[in-house]
Amino acid sequence: MKPTTISGVQPSGRLHLGNYLGALKNFVELQNAGEYNPFFFIADLHSLTEFPKTADEKQKQIFDLAADFLAAGLDPKQSTLFIQSAVPAHAETYWILGSLTPLGELGRMTQFKDKGKIETQKKEKKEDGFIKAVEAREGRESVNAGLLTYPILMASDILLYDAETVPVGEDQLQHLEFTRTLARKFNNTFGKTFVEPKPILTSTPRLMSLDDPTKKMSKSSPSGCVFLDDTPETITEKIKRAVTDSGKTIEYDPLNRPGISNLLLILSAFSGMSPKKLEKDFSGTGYGEFKTMVAEKIIASLEPFRKKKLFFKRNPSLVKKAFEKGNKTAEKQSGKKLMEIKKKVGLL
Ligand code: AMP
Ligand code: TRP
Repeated sequence: MKPTTISGVQPSGRLHLGNYLGALKNFVELQNAGEYNPFFFIADLHSLTEFPKTADEKQKQIFDLAADFLAAGLDPKQSTLFIQSAVPAHAETYWILGSLTPLGELGRMTQFKDKGKIETQKKEKKEDGFIKAVEAREGRESVNAGLLTYPILMASDILLYDAETVPVGEDQLQHLEFTRTLARKFNNTFGKTFVEPKPILTSTPRLMSLDDPTKKMSKSSPSGCVFLDDTPETITEKIKRAVTDSGKTIEYDPLNRPGISNLLLILSAFSGMSPKKLEKDFSGTGYGEFKTMVAEKIIASLEPFRKKKLFFKRNPSLVKKAFEKGNKTAEKQSGKKLMEIKKKVGLL
């Protein structure tokens, strides 16, 4: 039996180059390598921690991400593609594992601390939408509980499938470490049940923002993102505007030259050449010319994605169908594992 690999992405807006180079592109490569039993899913339950303005908007985000998966090259014949909320074992396991989780561990998670801060600020500003109904209260008190318990659901997603590896970006490493600790704790308490999963990182585990290369590219700061469905003109414009530094040479030095190094990393990820090799190839080239080359490479590399995405958007029934079989496969497999878990803790 091939080892299982699993990963999920939240449907919460347009995918950016960080998501692609840190995760999605790697999903496709792992699938195509043929050495794994791959599971990829849409983490729609997780995405509810940032409530949508309307139900229609959430449905659109889920559909859009499903189309992104297919456009990037995930194939329901080779991978089990599914939607988290269509597989009830995830939420049930989440409850069981939650009872084994110390509150302190959750409060220490960086993502919780960061998102907690953003949510608190939003509420203080009393922004539009669903959030408005919740009176802003000071500090963490008003942050939704889902943001705190988020890693327990993520651990359930992974442990239910006995996944040995999890391809993710660097920002998810802490959650994966949490998952390993939880698996160990369960195994020690109830007997060997879970596999301790290991991360798989790409060469760009933390792509930086174009307008502030000391911060990671993140949709919470859209001006620093290249989105996968940006038009070629927008991509060119964004790369031209990317913050570099006052130097003139193309050097790979992430610490002292983060902006130019980030562009070198992007070029490296798309060309397969190491940043050091690219540095040599581009010695003597000015920033302007270099940026044009980077933009052209991104545009050409994303062109097949853009075309396929349009195709899938025009053929929504194909997108739906691609996930139907996967939902059933995931339900069957996780259902079996859940029985085992329930037996271990005395619920069956
Ligand atoms: P999310 O949109 O938060 O569900 O992220 C989907 C995947 O993209 C996760 O595996 C993240 O770790 C990865 N990811 C997000 N931002 C970046 C980034 N700036 N660089 C590399 N990977 C990222
Ligand atoms: N937390 C991940 C993110 O924000 C998404 C996710 C949910 C995930 N469940 C997972 C990733 C299980 C890997 C495995 O990107």
